[in-house]
Amino acid sequence: MQTQQLTEARSIGAILIDAGKLSAMDAEKILREQKLHSLRFGDAAIKLGLLNHDDIQFALANQFDYPYLPHGDQSISGEVIAAFSPDSPVVEQLRALRTQLMLRWFDTELQRKTLAIVSPENGEGRSYVAANLAVVFSQLGERTLLIDADLRQPRQHQLFKITNSAGLSSVLTGRTSANDAAVKINKLLGLSVVPAGATPPNPQELLSRAAFSTMLKIYSESYDVIIIDTPAAKSADAQTIASRSGAAMIVASQNRTSVAEFKTLLANLQQSNVIIVGSLLNDF
Ligand SMILES: Nc1ncnc2c1ncn2[C@@H]1O[C@H](COP(=O)(O)OP(=O)(O)O)[C@@H](O)[C@H]1O
Ligand SMILES: [Mg+2]
Repeated sequence: MQTQQLTEARSIGAILIDAGKLSAMDAEKILREQKLHSLRFGDAAIKLGLLNHDDIQFALANQFDYPYLPHGDQSISGEVIAAFSPDSPVVEQLRALRTQLMLRWFDTELQRKTLAIVSPENGEGRSYVAANLAVVFSQLGERTLLIDADLRQPRQHQLFKITNSAGLSSVLTGRTSANDAAVKINKLLGLSVVPAGATPPNPQELLSRAAFSTMLKIYSESYDVIIIDTPAAKSADAQTIASRSGAAMIVASQNRTSVAEFKTLLANLQQSNVIIVGSLLNDF
């Protein structure tokens, strides 16, 4: 038992040292305290004030490859339900969708890595689906990137509680490099998010720039799955983004989306040769 505890302690310490959150000297102090009072590594570290609960949680998530956050964790929004509740019905639905998408679209060898999440109107759940889908892909061990391309009503920075000062808009205007704009979500292994960035006066023009494709090419070198959140498809932005992505998934809300609008969107996407890899009836 004692040996097991020390092995565990060493690896938690090693993870935190590797992550730059703990110095080797502090790790030594913690090990000494731990031995002296028969404490667990984390408890000894907290007692000494050298680490906090978040650090320990980070290390445990790494150590056990356990991709879920404890309920009540405030570091991301509760709307990202896939990070908290693997058993909820909507998360089960998203995992089934993930399987379909793995079979029908994503293919690293064929460079099929990008998927735009589209829907006709606001409030139909695009951002919600994009965020949670990205999380379930990352939980499978895919190197996953979520890009917020809704430059009109950006949401992903709120869902993942990251700063929105640099993001897609600054990459498209050449003020930030693609790699600098991708923010690693520490507690969700394998997931990075590119927030929308400052709201520009000319979203449609920005999204049409060649820089968008260049950026996707750069990201496809480091990620296996790239999910793109888009604005309501009644604006032209979503079409532009979907064409660049090559593939799209349509979200429809049972109570909000009209059949006519859904059909128009489908027809428009097909006309621009976007592959429709599925649709999701978001029943909420
Ligand atoms: N399946 C769902 N279950 C619960 N709440 C949802 C679901 N889908 C969307 N919502 C909620 O509905 C609101 C609008 O969703 P959002 O994703 O922001 O829409 P959109 O991006 O299409 O404008 C958000 O508050 C979101 O959390
Ligand atoms: Mg949205």
